[in-house]
Amino acid sequence: MIRLDDSRALDMLDDGALDDLQPKLTDAHQAVLDKSGAGSDFLGWRDLLTDPDDALLEDIETTAAHLRRDADVLLCLGIGGSYLGAKAVIDALTPYFKKTSPATPDLPGKSDQPDDPPEVLFAGNQTSGAYLRELLESLEGKSVFVNVISKSGTTLETALSFRFVRQWMEDHFEDADDRIIVTTDPEKGVLNTLRDEHPYKKYVIPRDVGGRFSVMTPVGLLPIAAAGIDIRSFFYGAVSACEELKDAEDNPALQYAGLRYLLLEEGYDVDVLAVFEPKLRSIGGWWQQLMGESEGKDGTGLFPAVVQYTTDLHSLGQYMQDGQRIVLETFLMVEDDDGDLTIPQSEDNLDGLNYVAGKTMSDVTRGAYEGTAQAHSDGGVPILSLWMDSIDPGPLGELLYFFEHAVAVSGYLLGVNPFNQPGVEDYKREMFDRLGK
Ligand code: PA5
Repeated sequence: MIRLDDSRALDMLDDGALDDLQPKLTDAHQAVLDKSGAGSDFLGWRDLLTDPDDALLEDIETTAAHLRRDADVLLCLGIGGSYLGAKAVIDALTPYFKKTSPATPDLPGKSDQPDDPPEVLFAGNQTSGAYLRELLESLEGKSVFVNVISKSGTTLETALSFRFVRQWMEDHFEDADDRIIVTTDPEKGVLNTLRDEHPYKKYVIPRDVGGRFSVMTPVGLLPIAAAGIDIRSFFYGAVSACEELKDAEDNPALQYAGLRYLLLEEGYDVDVLAVFEPKLRSIGGWWQQLMGESEGKDGTGLFPAVVQYTTDLHSLGQYMQDGQRIVLETFLMVEDDDGDLTIPQSEDNLDGLNYVAGKTMSDVTRGAYEGTAQAHSDGGVPILSLWMDSIDPGPLGELLYFFEHAVAVSGYLLGVNPFNQPGVEDYKREMFDRLGK
């Protein structure tokens, strides 16, 4: 389970402040469990885990096996909660560098080895024409499948990209309709209307699950499974976290929510999530949306930002150490980071690095973390550290549920509805005005 180290944050708060907050934390937690708080008709993301649908998991695994057999590329169209979860998990769990298969010119259709996972690409999450044009050019000659993911079906970025992509698919594949999968509302929206003419395979986003809480629905699970990741371990990791975080006492998700709340009250307005493993950078992107959209309303909430160390220590490290004291820092750490690469002894030691010979790169990462946490703490930054066991499907499922539960509690502490995002509509209204809708 996720372990919270708050030793470098507690001393920034009054003695007993977290204990004093426990009754409020327990109430907020109870409101999540018994669906009695604001926005409680959007708590379906917990029901998915308390009553798992194994038949759905099996259906997704079957579709994913078909994609692994027939697709070079799975192109996922979606924005916000309709893609960040899948991207986060795929980036975390797939190799940094894809092994290139030997050329197989005689193999019909798919050009990679059979059962190699397709490359999962994302689009429909911005308005760049250059991106879309270059993307479609890069797909020439490849066996392409598409998963368009939009609960409303009306999100401009996704819908527009699908107009281009659908045309491209119809121009390139006679069986285009069999290569397109939609993930959307059970009945409403344009994607359902399109299915009246085109019999695309469909997966459903439950009505009571909001976009940023949808990674454990087909929104996240289908692309993740297509990428060759064990979705059962991932999903059941979340199931076990949901079970373990049921008690309000000694609950690390509640403590994490409570400490962030208390630190915000002390004027720490910015929460920086720091990862050391580059593969976890996109988990930060998912976390940023979850936190920002859930908390940032009615003039409150921490501003969530993400950094990747040690890279960003050479850009933002100065600010973290010595800039405005409005920042708290949450380190997302891994007990076993798979960095077991031993530093060799050098006979001439011309680079002067023999002092670390015999250590592993994991030891270096651990030293960098401990040194950074100490330095930033000395500089007046409250530090929280979250430890996960390893970067594997089960621990990642636990982690994502941990954050979902924590932000739901956090929203109630702040007195906001953590499940809506009214502010997002404002830019859309202004944009649509200018585009003549
Ligand atoms: O968290 C949310 O609800 C949003 O980020 C949505 O996921 C995002 O706006 C995309 O919406 P839709 O799936 O309706 O296209």
